[in-house]
Amino acid sequence: MARKKLVAANWKMNLTLEQAAEWLADVDEMLQERHADVVVFPSYVFITDLMDMYEGDLLLFGAQNCSHVESGALTGEVSAMQLASVGIDYVIIGHSERRTYFGETNEIIRQKLKVAVKHELLPVFCCGEPLEIRNQGKQQEYVLQQLRESLFDLSPAEIADVTIAYEPVWAIGTGINATPGQAQEMHSFIRGQIEERYGKQISGHIRILYGGSCKPDNAAEIFACPDVDGGLIGGASLKADDFVKIVMAAAL
Ligand code: 13P
Repeated sequence: MARKKLVAANWKMNLTLEQAAEWLADVDEMLQERHADVVVFPSYVFITDLMDMYEGDLLLFGAQNCSHVESGALTGEVSAMQLASVGIDYVIIGHSERRTYFGETNEIIRQKLKVAVKHELLPVFCCGEPLEIRNQGKQQEYVLQQLRESLFDLSPAEIADVTIAYEPVWAIGTGINATPGQAQEMHSFIRGQIEERYGKQISGHIRILYGGSCKPDNAAEIFACPDVDGGLIGGASLKADDFVKIVMAAAL
């Protein structure tokens, strides 16, 4: 069965509530039918405001992060259980900015995945290599280690609802995107590793998104790769019309 594409807007720490509400209204007007699954990842503070505001049925909502533990004395953190309790569907786990600026290790990310699936959130697990690793030609070993130390701790039942996002760090916010060939090569490698660990049924079903300077003018060729099942979009998701163009590219 063909995998349905998923296109996600990771707004990171951008947009005010007012700007986000305007984006929502614009995207809803432009996206008249479901070209792909579309998920929006706003800042925690107004996810539920946007969910309440949104009257359509084309968009799903997610959080950009969650804590690695269930609950407790962790000032400023938000738990998976809390996200689930307000009806949030998705959660991004292991984004490279969390790894780089907040010291998240593969072990912490493993714990986050566990707690997220326990509360029936749908994780978008991010992996990807920095530039120096790509320059050494060791990107597959690097990504495999991220998979082994975090994702592969999940049982077959737990991984079934995970989405993977391959986000080469050198392509994030730099304007330099991976070529379709580079993206396909890594996506097919990741799918092959999933197959080895979990079998063909799961590897054939799991969605692998590409993230890293994906824009209206390069989305279609990247999404056309057989193992690319959509995108996790940063900068280009902030403008409603650019984002809608990217979603449309997933339907080609
Ligand atoms: P850019 O699209 O801005 O490169 O960001 C990609 C990303 O990090 C999405 O999570």
